[in-house]
Amino acid sequence: MKPGGVRLTAVKNVAQRAGFYFVNFDDDAMPLDEFLGAAGQRLDRISKQSAAGFELVAGVHEYEISANYKLLVENSLDGYHLMSTHATYFAYMADLLKGINPQIGGSVTTLGNGHASFMTPVMSGRPVAQWLPHWGDEAKREIEEKRREVVSRLGEQDGADVCDFNSNTWIFPISIINDQQTILVRAILPLSHNKLRVRAWSLAPKDESPKLRQIRMENILSFLGPGGFATPDDVTMLEWAQRAYEHTCGGWNDFSKAMDPDEDTLNTTAVYDDELHMRAYWLQWDKMMSAD
Ligand SMILES: [Fe+2]
Repeated sequence: MKPGGVRLTAVKNVAQRAGFYFVNFDDDAMPLDEFLGAAGQRLDRISKQSAAGFELVAGVHEYEISANYKLLVENSLDGYHLMSTHATYFAYMADLLKGINPQIGGSVTTLGNGHASFMTPVMSGRPVAQWLPHWGDEAKREIEEKRREVVSRLGEQDGADVCDFNSNTWIFPISIINDQQTILVRAILPLSHNKLRVRAWSLAPKDESPKLRQIRMENILSFLGPGGFATPDDVTMLEWAQRAYEHTCGGWNDFSKAMDPDEDTLNTTAVYDDELHMRAYWLQWDKMMSAD
């Protein structure tokens, strides 16, 4: 065989938005910006955390969950479960914050084409740029400086938005970016109707100081990682839910909460514990699965 006689299929559609690269094997796929819709602005927002750009932190978390992947979609976008499912974490945070109440609030938004996001100002610490007392004075000085830089670059309102709000942005159908204690990109691989695999990578500013990088690395493990405060809670709940669906005859998962049946599910916003954005995901899923 001649050199180069066998090669991988070339991917014609490679595009990026705010440094996030997407590939598509469909030569007739719509342009990336059209596909992303308003989700593209969420990627822009994340990229504004650093004028120097981002790098991939070495290493990957990989784990499996015995549940349908769409349960993880709902879970990742849901604000309602946080205080109950992650009660241990919030008790831990209340102790660390010594008087600052880590109450959840914020909003959920549908972003078009099944994309959706959940944003909350909950006080859980962000290397860009929300300080927590147990990080110490050196980190406080650095984070205050970082905050000044972001605000001077983006203005008071946009700067506060970038610094203070955690967000989960779901990119339909199987990717999510958790912009919280770090920036975590999770790819969800459905393995069967009742099993999924998660692969998660962290991003960090290229010019991040050793101190803030250390905090970021500890954050990855302490909350978002598979052995952290959050993920084991969610994994347990998802697997219990999957077992319940398989062993009862109900056949339906009712996630109705506060939403008016007549509310518009396209490009609208609701309070953080609404189900509006979950419905938007399901509507897009139904549209694609029902297509000829
Ligand atoms: Fe959770």
